[in-house]
Amino acid sequence: MKVIRSAAEMHEAVAAVKRAGRRIALVPTMGALHEGHAALLRKAREQNAAVIVSIYVNPTQFGPNEDLSRYPRTFDADLTLCIRESVDVIFAPTDAEMYPGGQTTAWVEEQALAKRLEGERRPGHFRGVCTIVAKLFNLTEPHVAVFGQKDFQQLKVIERMTRDLSYPIQIVPVPTVREPDGLALSSRNQYLSAEERAQAVVLYRALGIAQDLFNGGEHNAHRLQTAMQRTIQLAPAARLDYVEIVESETLLPVHEAKAGNVALLAVHIGKTRLIDNLIL
Ligand code: PAJ
Repeated sequence: MKVIRSAAEMHEAVAAVKRAGRRIALVPTMGALHEGHAALLRKAREQNAAVIVSIYVNPTQFGPNEDLSRYPRTFDADLTLCIRESVDVIFAPTDAEMYPGGQTTAWVEEQALAKRLEGERRPGHFRGVCTIVAKLFNLTEPHVAVFGQKDFQQLKVIERMTRDLSYPIQIVPVPTVREPDGLALSSRNQYLSAEERAQAVVLYRALGIAQDLFNGGEHNAHRLQTAMQRTIQLAPAARLDYVEIVESETLLPVHEAKAGNVALLAVHIGKTRLIDNLIL
């Protein structure tokens, strides 16, 4: 396994992989790798390709009052997980390498799906995500790129960006990996105290209640949302940011829920903001 720090070395490594006639699968991450990331790496392995994982905490996707400075950085443990998962290349560039001169004046912005939900609460977030993912696509020239359904809106925004910018890249989704009690794995779960961690299960519980009601014939989106809100309110440390049921491709809210629609929510547990979703 190779660890690459610069764009120039990355281009050389990509050229070498292509000369050898191998396909490339990219898994973009911000590190602090967990078993959710590991599932993406295994999906990338299945593509019969050289697996490149990028580890880069991208400053342009964090808002001014967000957790950029305290975002967990666990490179040694990440290295161990990547060796275990037979990764071929770790691309872990410096800020200077990704943003020469400390900034960018050229942005990639998706305009249809990136405005609502996370985009509304985190202005500029998806502009940062699309810009860094486009840069990673240019640097690693993958045939396939793997993303988690945990960040459902991000997945859809990236799919649209890839299509609209004509990247010849197949976007492969991976279902959300959860703890035994249902909490979606996230690098940000590290912020939770033991008490908050116990209460964080309400996100999954609320989604499960929506699914149960839906299976029982309740398709009114407003009533499903109300049931989820009530569940969240039962946890004293939880403060609901949003809960919505949307159409999976447009991410527009629905009145009558159908199978394949997606329940999405964002909840503050203490000072930590968590997101989760479930495809009905
Ligand atoms: P990060 O939060 O590190 O997530 C990297 C990838 O792992 C994303 O595709 C995310 O959806 C996926 N992932 C995270 N938790 C998961 C879980 N529990 N189950 C399945 N997949 C999971 O998302 C980002 O980084 C960044 O925005 C990035 C795309 C790297 C751009 O900077």
